[in-house]
Amino acid sequence: MAEKKAVDEYTIEDLPGVGDATAEKLREAGYDNIMALAVASPKDLSDVTGIGEGAAAKIIASARKYADVGNFETGEEILQRRKEVKKLSTGSKALDDLLGGGLETQALTEFYGEFGSGKTQIMHQLAVFATMPVDKGGFDSDVLILDTENTFRPERIVQMANYRGVDPDETLRRIHVARAYNSHHQILLAEKASDQTKEFNARLLIVDSLTSHFRSEYMGRGSLAERQQLLNRHMHDLLKFGTLNNAVVAVTNQVSARPDVFFGDPTSPIGGNIVGHTATFRIYLRKSKAGKRIARLMDSPHLPEGEAVIQISEDGVADIQGS
Ligand code: GTP
Ligand code: MG
Repeated sequence: MAEKKAVDEYTIEDLPGVGDATAEKLREAGYDNIMALAVASPKDLSDVTGIGEGAAAKIIASARKYADVGNFETGEEILQRRKEVKKLSTGSKALDDLLGGGLETQALTEFYGEFGSGKTQIMHQLAVFATMPVDKGGFDSDVLILDTENTFRPERIVQMANYRGVDPDETLRRIHVARAYNSHHQILLAEKASDQTKEFNARLLIVDSLTSHFRSEYMGRGSLAERQQLLNRHMHDLLKFGTLNNAVVAVTNQVSARPDVFFGDPTSPIGGNIVGHTATFRIYLRKSKAGKRIARLMDSPHLPEGEAVIQISEDGVADIQGS
């Protein structure tokens, strides 16, 4: 092989041992380029393509020879990327301030809280804001939503867009929603999210809810390890999307207040340490009186803990009137 060619000048058929039939299986499973193969694990590749694990390992080994797998970056390069971090407004100044100016790109922000605490409303509002012009706190971009609970409501987008004075039809055209029917489907959709950005520029990826499928499918202590492993991989896929596309990743999570559980903290988020460690920012939402919600910043790399009070109404998320 000529060492000088860039990895994207090769196709997967250039790999020794990959004929047309194998290439088709790989493509069907989403491994359509050398880089994707180079970072795959033999077991995963074998599981999703039906190719034997030994053959999968050989394909991966040759893909690694072609690919430029992983680089060390200088601190200067990382600083340069950090300088590109943008902030997305939530529509509430109090909440934006709590977050140091809004939700950051290249990071994963988790909103957790009990049912009706406003997580889904905030996701709708973020979707509207991402489509809005930059001078209004938006990204002028498209939005990807993974809807796991069938709670996306275009009618709410229309109400929120009208309140913000932007064209509701245009806003809806820029919001792309995929229903995820189970946790595997959810994982696949997240892996595919980057493909979508070839067709349009999406600077916001929403997963509402991150954990509901995992929680209902993996019950009991026996399956906890597997659940956590899958969640971990899924969250890293999401974070990778945020880094590669300079996008905000916003996810929702429930708390473990279950009537059948009499021990533990009823306000602790699902997913344990895996979710806690991967989320860059964690916000705990509590219900208060008359449509008010209290948002508490629980975890952040460089911001103080604190609280903001927001109002949820037909118009969406806003500051408390008169505050
Ligand atoms: P789960 O997904 O069940 O865990 O809850 P969630 O945190 O996603 O709650 P969600 O964001 O769906 O909040 C629902 C609440 O938002 C409702 O109980 C209402 O209080 C409020 N809400 C939603 N739509 C409207 C609206 O059009 N007008 C008003 N005034 N409030 C609304
Ligand atoms: Mg919800």
